[in-house]
Amino acid sequence: MLSHDTRFDRLLAVLEDLAAGDLDVRFQLSDRLDEIDAIGYGINQMAEELRDTINALSVANEELSQFAFIVSHDLKSPLRGIQNCAEMLRQEGEDNLLPEQLRYLDLLQSAARRGQLLVGELLEYSQLGIGAGDVKPIDMRALIDETIGDLDGANDVEWEIQRRWPTPVTSAMLLRQVLANLFTNAITYNRSTPPRIAVGSKNNGDESQFTFFVRDNGIGIAPQYHKKIFNLFQRLHHRSEFDGSGVGLATVRKAALALGGSVTLDSNLGEGSTFWVSIPRSYQGAHR
Ligand SMILES: Nc1ncnc2c1ncn2[C@@H]1O[C@H](COP(=O)(O)OP(=O)(O)OP(=O)(O)O)[C@@H](O)[C@H]1O
Ligand SMILES: [Mg+2]
Repeated sequence: MLSHDTRFDRLLAVLEDLAAGDLDVRFQLSDRLDEIDAIGYGINQMAEELRDTINALSVANEELSQFAFIVSHDLKSPLRGIQNCAEMLRQEGEDNLLPEQLRYLDLLQSAARRGQLLVGELLEYSQLGIGAGDVKPIDMRALIDETIGDLDGANDVEWEIQRRWPTPVTSAMLLRQVLANLFTNAITYNRSTPPRIAVGSKNNGDESQFTFFVRDNGIGIAPQYHKKIFNLFQRLHHRSEFDGSGVGLATVRKAALALGGSVTLDSNLGEGSTFWVSIPRSYQGAHR
């Protein structure tokens, strides 16, 4: 029969494994049915429920993702139809239509165009992270430079980019999505001249993690919106002020999650923003 101390150590080991994410581990109950067994039984129940909930969640997530894919995919063609018909109406009736009618036609066409844009972005979003297939050691400096090279308005920015970087082993495609969206926002939501963007990494003592930041001197974000902005189609500004669809940060969050990590921010209105992304230094293969 195992001693009280050994059983207690085993209980702690089970808890440690659970905390590390192994939800299949269970405490071996004895026939003493004492307080250690009572705690072990509670922990086993909890682990069981947690595993069931996570399974249910991932099924729901998968369904939602498929739903978004089907909806966005199937909406494409009716929207294209509306666009085409409006264009034909314009060509055939250009001389006969009243100014008011032409204005309605303009509105119809721009709404259809915007619908197509949103549907296209939703489609891209729903497909993101399905197989982060291109896992390899990343030259961060090169990836950052390439991403900046593809951006509009990057030349007017004063970039401050860390020289030496760790080499995470992860998906370049997903990391590029994260960087591109954070950089675009840092340029867009910025009225300073010149816009200044700093990109660097931080060693927070955990060797298994790779943490980096994108800091801007832009308009800033009030703390009460720090959660909301990561939701799909959530924006804090009207399109007349800053153009956009509200997909960028949802994409950042989804990509960071797909890499096994997370994204947070420090910001106040009028004080610039710093977005922090933390991912495993070495891609672990599964979504959390
Ligand atoms: N660096 C930033 N500084 C200030 N506000 C920001 C910043 N990044 C995002 N925001 C705010 O968060 C909102 C959501 O950003 P997000 O990138 O998701 O969408 P978007 O920029 O509006 O559109 P999209 O990126 O899809 O073109 C933005 O509309 C803006 O109000
Ligand atoms: Mg954006």
